[in-house]
Amino acid sequence: MLEYRGYDSAGVTVFNGSLETYKIAGRIKDLEALIPENIEGNIGIGHTRWATHGRPETKNAHPHLSSNVSVVHNGIIENYLELKERLSLHGYDFHSDTDTEVIAHLLHYNMNCNGTRCLFEGLAETVKELHGSYAIAALCEDEPDSIAFARKDSPLVIGIGKEGNYAASDVTAFLRHTREVIYIDDGEIGLLKPGSIEIFDKAGIKVSRNAQIVEWNLEAAEKAGYEHFMLKEIHEQPTSIQNTFAGKLSELEGTVTIDELYLEPEDIKKLRRATIIACGTSWNAGILGKYLFEKLAAIHTDVETASEFRYSNPVLCGEELTIAITQSGETADTLAAVRSSSSYGCRTIAITNVVGSTITREADSVFYTRAGPEIGVAATKTFTAQLVALYLIAIYLGRIRGVISANDAKDLIVGIKRLPGQIQKVLNSNDEIKECAVRFADKRDYFFIGRYLNYPVALEGALKLKEISYIHAEGYAAGELKHGPLALITEETPVVAIATRGHTYDKILSNIKEVKARNATVIAVAEDDDSEIEKYADVVLRIPSSHELLSPVLSSVVLQLLSYHTAHAKYCSIDKPRNLAKSVTVE
Ligand code: F6R
Repeated sequence: MLEYRGYDSAGVTVFNGSLETYKIAGRIKDLEALIPENIEGNIGIGHTRWATHGRPETKNAHPHLSSNVSVVHNGIIENYLELKERLSLHGYDFHSDTDTEVIAHLLHYNMNCNGTRCLFEGLAETVKELHGSYAIAALCEDEPDSIAFARKDSPLVIGIGKEGNYAASDVTAFLRHTREVIYIDDGEIGLLKPGSIEIFDKAGIKVSRNAQIVEWNLEAAEKAGYEHFMLKEIHEQPTSIQNTFAGKLSELEGTVTIDELYLEPEDIKKLRRATIIACGTSWNAGILGKYLFEKLAAIHTDVETASEFRYSNPVLCGEELTIAITQSGETADTLAAVRSSSSYGCRTIAITNVVGSTITREADSVFYTRAGPEIGVAATKTFTAQLVALYLIAIYLGRIRGVISANDAKDLIVGIKRLPGQIQKVLNSNDEIKECAVRFADKRDYFFIGRYLNYPVALEGALKLKEISYIHAEGYAAGELKHGPLALITEETPVVAIATRGHTYDKILSNIKEVKARNATVIAVAEDDDSEIEKYADVVLRIPSSHELLSPVLSSVVLQLLSYHTAHAKYCSIDKPRNLAKSVTVE
């Protein structure tokens, strides 16, 4: 269930009279083939890896062992070289290139070499010496009813089952057993036994925390007959975006209610600037957010790449609003950037899909997109849910600030409510999109161009295609082509132009003519009642006409299907593209 978070190697240790460990470079199915069919045990730890230190080889797969101790770890131990040197002097041999192996040896050392300690005490001693990020689960052969765990800057959640307890980096791991969970906070460590869960804070004080029930169910995290999670998640969008806006829109009054933002109207009126922080697909959503906040709420908005922002010198005075967009709520760079902006006193709103994720504890308020679990590594339904969240927040702020009228808001609200039905129409045109995808699947390069609100759609279209089909793809603001990239356009380059009507329509038509003049094949995404476009484009993929500001949601669905079918035609690993992982919890 966790394979989407990393899939270059995998391993397990189970206690079956003694610790038995199996690991392999490859997928879970390779590990399954390795494990004896009759394996038994009352306790175990497992791991599916996304390599940071050390290549994806069997010796680097987790669990890592030290005599009677076995450890799995997510995160990065920054001082591992120093620890490795010290432990080598104590006679420990290292068999991998990973940072994790030092945890196993250090745990063993701490349990045995300075007086005898139990597993829990040993881990408590060990984490004091670790610099970096970690979610750890550890077993010791001498304590066959216990798993010790610890967390810092890497997600860890406990599941309380009827027949046992679980620790995992994501609730999807144990959804088939329980939906009753306890989220572990940074710096906490603890001990799981079949009938008990103990958690202690940094100071060693016992924590008592109530369990929560997660809304997600097992069906939501399974494929339900679709060939891939990505296809299932694309098809879920009529429902997922409905869940994003449910209960928040009043068509009659032209208002959006988002109580969970906890912003005072007076503070909203005073806002002059907002900073959106995100990575990847979420960053692409952020670009749309910028245009919406500026148009609908008259708030100057910057969009920052989290990995850059955290090392820059932002000029913030504390009165700005920070909006962190992160599907997983666990992206290390986004979390660090948010901490940096909070240090200036900025108020942070998080837009996330994962209840209880780390960002929800870092931010001052949280907007949940409620799209349900997304397992395919390529973000699809969570992207459109983020777009809808941004429409809602922009209208909400804009109404309070008196920038848009009730009537304009009503038009948008009516438009938003129509989106689920319109997405369904796009999904119904799957066959045309597939035909187009198959026709160009052998191309080496693709360009995606759009202007204004369609610019982030172009960026996201290109990201999706390169990520799952391995075709080189560039997303460009269409007006930028002539400043360099036009040199790359030949008759071998399909150019996808997002050409919905609005005040930049004529301009994108000119850009289409520019690339046609260089013999490119143009695939246009256009509204179903636009007959003009056929004069210029070679292929037209249709979306229903919508409110001008809302078409990015519909165009994005077309481009998701285009990527999916291209990758499918190329026999790519759609749900688990090479080199990637779903949550990037390391820097
Ligand atoms: C692409 C994709 C990534 C994520 C990025 C940020 O399909 O999924 O680009 O958008 O890693 O992840 P979150 O939104 O979880 O912070």
